[in-house]
This record gives sequence, structure tokens and C-alpha cells, in this order.
Amino acid sequence: MRITATVNGETRQADDVWEGESLLYVLRERMGLPGSKNACEQGECGSCTVYLDDAVVCACLVAAGQAQGRRIVTVEGLARGDSLHPVQQAFVDAGAVQCGFCTPGLLVAAHDLLARDPDPADADVREALAGNLCRCTGYEKILEAVRLAAARLSEAGPPGSELPGHGLPGGEAS
Ligand code: FES
Ligand code: FES
Repeated sequence: MRITATVNGETRQADDVWEGESLLYVLRERMGLPGSKNACEQGECGSCTVYLDDAVVCACLVAAGQAQGRRIVTVEGLARGDSLHPVQQAFVDAGAVQCGFCTPGLLVAAHDLLARDPDPADADVREALAGNLCRCTGYEKILEAVRLAAARLSEAGPPGSELPGHGLPGGEAS
């Protein structure tokens, strides 16, 4: 079957998709977007987290056919050209990236959290990122990164340009 979806703001098609194929496979292998990682393929690790419309999902658990006509944003879609999104930059600056395998999923999940709650308590950050496993960092640097991103986004002014529904590719306000 053919799948057509808006991916990171562009209309993309994939042909000859078989019915059991996952959205993660389509993104990585058919659309050339390897940012979303395939670690467990069972919905356990969060490394494949993407936006499907306005919700974050594990792309490994979404059948490709469910993406038909939908809006998808991957970690590649958070940046603007050569400029990292403030959430991405904060992960770099806080040293929250080691092997990096978990990072794309954490970035999408943190982006979503800060869109819903610009000043989350640590407990809320932990809860929001509980589905994203990291075996390298011990999570403290990740918490620091989310705090840093929240502070920078709040200094940058009211929401409106950086967060979902507020500037994601293909979103209403982009
Ligand atoms: S690869 Fe999808 S949750 Fe682990
Ligand atoms: S940085 Fe290696 S799994 Fe998180």
C-alpha cells in the first residue's frame, strides 16, 4: 500500500508498505529519517518517540497505515535548519547526551512536556520522561537539561514560536 503523510512539514509518500510495517520502519528505512531510534521495537524504551498529530507516540507501536493522512514530527523536525531547538541545545549544553541512543525520544518527550507545562516540577519531568529509558546518564543530566530548556524558553518570552502547536512543522501555528 501507499502511505502519504505530512512529515516534518513536508508531504511524504512511501510505496509498497506492507500491512504489518511500523511507522518507525517507514520513517527510518523508507523516508531516510534515522533520528528516531529502534532499540526495543516493543514500546518499552521510548527511543522511537515522535509526534503523531499532537500526541507523542512510540513509532514502533504505530502501524504504518495508521499514519495515513496524519502529521508526524520526528526529532529532525524540531530543529530549524542549522539551528537546534532550545530543547536540543539544552541537552548538548547540560551534557545530557552520551551514547545518544535515547536522546531523540527524550527530546521529543521533553519538547511535548514543556509545551504543556513550561515550568514543570522535577517530579513532573520524571513522570513525563518515565517511558524513555537511558542506560548511560543516570538521568540527572537529563533533568538538568529540561530545567535549562525551560529557563531559556521562559526567558525567550511567551509561548508562540518554539513549542507544539507553536511552530512544529506542519502545525497550525508554524
Ligand atoms: S523502539 Fe519503540 S519503544 Fe523502544
Ligand atoms: S545516552 Fe546512552 S542510552 Fe541515554
